[in-house]
Amino acid sequence: MSLPSSRRQVLGGGIGLLAAMPATALARAGGASAGSQAGGSQVADAPRSTHTQDLVPFQGVHQAGITTPRPSAGMIASFYMLAESLDDLERLFRTLTERIGFLTRGGQQPDIDPLLPPAGSGILGPVVQPDALTITVSVGASLFNADLGLADLRPRHLRQMQAHPNDALDAALCHGDLSIQFCANTPDTNIHALRDIIKNTSDLLVLHWKQEGTVPQIPSMPGQPEESARNFLGFRDGSANPNSNDTPLMDRIVWVAPGGVEPGWATGGSYQAVRIIRNFVERWDRTPLGEQEAIMGRVKPSGAPMDAPVDGSATEHHVPDYDRDPQGTKTPLDSHIRLANPRNAASDANLILRRPFNYSNGVTKSGQLEMGLLFICYQADLEAGFITVQKRLDGEPLEEYIKPIGGGFFFTLPGIRDDADWIGHTLIAAARAA
Ligand code: HEM
Repeated sequence: MSLPSSRRQVLGGGIGLLAAMPATALARAGGASAGSQAGGSQVADAPRSTHTQDLVPFQGVHQAGITTPRPSAGMIASFYMLAESLDDLERLFRTLTERIGFLTRGGQQPDIDPLLPPAGSGILGPVVQPDALTITVSVGASLFNADLGLADLRPRHLRQMQAHPNDALDAALCHGDLSIQFCANTPDTNIHALRDIIKNTSDLLVLHWKQEGTVPQIPSMPGQPEESARNFLGFRDGSANPNSNDTPLMDRIVWVAPGGVEPGWATGGSYQAVRIIRNFVERWDRTPLGEQEAIMGRVKPSGAPMDAPVDGSATEHHVPDYDRDPQGTKTPLDSHIRLANPRNAASDANLILRRPFNYSNGVTKSGQLEMGLLFICYQADLEAGFITVQKRLDGEPLEEYIKPIGGGFFFTLPGIRDDADWIGHTLIAAARAA
């Protein structure tokens, strides 16, 4: 994704430079003064902010927030959609585009009349800092059932999320007409963006459910391999995730390509699978280490696979060789990683890009910690991706310690290509042409 020159002029050269920097460098660049990039001379006098100037461009062939670096704070919000006509839906998409443009770019929100409500919630101060915010808009299967003439345009694999045998799905935490994923350096930047969108779309969207999560940033160390953050079961999570910087790979496994089975309007989009998965951490913490490692298929301290050398040199990046362990002597056949990805010729078609966050919601009525994994993954083919992988995982030993309670399937709309474009524009154009 490249930053269009017009926006570079609005923001100043510094932003273009920051946009080209990797996430860890961006995080460190966060100390820039509030006035340095975000919107002209007035900004220079703005109060200091704890939020960063890190900017992730929101325009491009694909929406940001999927292959762009994962910052510390994430949130999925799911909505009911109230549009009764294509015109309404277009107005919703145009409003979302305008708000996403502002929120991800940052700038001032002047309050011109004290008799009116303030322009924004103010929780980021009078100047909104971009803070690496990405806002990713996806639509649920129910949008295509609505009486809007969209039924024939539904992405081929999009359907309501089914329940798997270990699920205890709470209807209040499932599905939705539209999902919005917010990712930023700080949780309050996500909350600020959510409140802004709720305020500006109040006649067209009603919030259904939301789940927030966090993930620690582990800075790169020169000469050292990258390290994945740990989930709330204490294991590194992300070690074998496909490389999101590998564009040909992402084109194959994440993005809908033109000329395939999907409707033309969906080109450049992706399927989003969301699962809110509770972890029974008290039970896990009473489970022997060896059993935990056999359940996951990885060594807990390093994250290395079970067949890696035991001399302490192996990292999480060691690639397991299941052909040399057909009986599962080293890596149990029913371990999480071996079921999720058996690493054979056929399972190459089931690769998914994971982008999870850890969540902690307080205490259950029975006095247990209410925490787990906000699992989010993206794939070009929902059936070959999440659905097939989850079916392979059904019945895994890990199920004794986890309980999926919510989530949904959505289709992430193609990107916004330039200043004249708006999110969902290809879908609306296809519906009008039909
Ligand atoms: C609370 C639930 C879950 C936990 C605690 C968990 C944890 C882990 C851990 C620790 C790894 C190894 C490190 C890595 O490669 O990232 C892993 C790998 C993986 N997980 Fe999960 N996971 C969970 C749910 C899921 C779900 C729902 C799916 C998809 C349906 C999934 C798919 C995968 C895949 C594809 C891999 C990579 C396997 C490989 O290529 O070697 N996981 N998971």
